[in-house]
Amino acid sequence: MATTSAAQREPALAGQTVVVIGGSAGIGLETARLARAEGADVVVTGRDPGRLEQAAAELGALRSAAFDATDPAALQQFFQDLPTPVDHVMSTAGRPYYGLLADMDVEQARRSFDEHMWLPINVARLATGRVRPGGTLIFMGGTGSRRPHPGLTIAAMGTAALPAMTANLALELAPIRVNLIAAGFVDTPLSAQLLGADLDERREQLRATLPIRRVVGPADVAALAVHLMTNTALTGATYDIDGGQQLLPG
Ligand SMILES: NC(=O)c1ccc[n+]([C@@H]2O[C@H](COP(=O)([O-])OP(=O)(O)OC[C@H]3O[C@@H](n4cnc5c(N)ncnc54)[C@H](OP(=O)(O)O)[C@@H]3O)[C@@H](O)[C@H]2O)c1
Repeated sequence: MATTSAAQREPALAGQTVVVIGGSAGIGLETARLARAEGADVVVTGRDPGRLEQAAAELGALRSAAFDATDPAALQQFFQDLPTPVDHVMSTAGRPYYGLLADMDVEQARRSFDEHMWLPINVARLATGRVRPGGTLIFMGGTGSRRPHPGLTIAAMGTAALPAMTANLALELAPIRVNLIAAGFVDTPLSAQLLGADLDERREQLRATLPIRRVVGPADVAALAVHLMTNTALTGATYDIDGGQQLLPG
């Protein structure tokens, strides 16, 4: 079978600029790394300035900006300061909210809506004129809360809403393309934080049960993200990446 290695072909993102909101760790950092390897300039953001500075230095980032992306004024300022036009904006900021109604932390639950729903809307509002026609917006959702379970109400709302939001934005923002990545478990610092001492057991369980017989890593998601940036046929859709996790019983 004929293959084309990266060494033999043009880098897929040569001359392009990729912005990753939440690019200092996990899926965002890995996407920035791959975009860089494919020839892009990258702009990365995050809240923790130390972690961001380290990531930006490793990446050789064009620029970096430390701010809370759920702050609309800070996000607007960031977009205003961008060297325009940019080609792609991916948002990987945020974390899911899990919890029973009885002990719901309403502030945290609201915050997860800010991160997963209002942040994409605000990015979309700022994209026109700053993302080139044919460029992309990429947002992150999940597959894990598609099946109802106590404690998943808030996470499930985001899971259900984001594909509809993405499809509508793709029509409104055309010819900018808008896509959603819906991930299952991905082995990132966020997953490590959420699972704590149970992380290794969860990895083992996934290795034993997932149809792919391995754990999905941030590089897997990064490869999908770069594909969404480069395949100009794709817009308005949700791309599952979970190693078959949602096919398994309960
Ligand atoms: N990991 C999974 O299994 C999984 C599955 C499905 C969906 N997702 C979603 O995918 C996205 C990325 O997940 P991940 O696992 O890569 O997370 P991660 O390892 O925690 O990385 C998140 C990145 O976003 C930044 N960030 C978080 N909140 C931010 C905010 N309010 N403003 C600016 N930057 C912010 C973080 O840096 P600072 O903390 O310094 O700001 C970090 O750079 C999240 O939205 C997550 O909910 C993850």
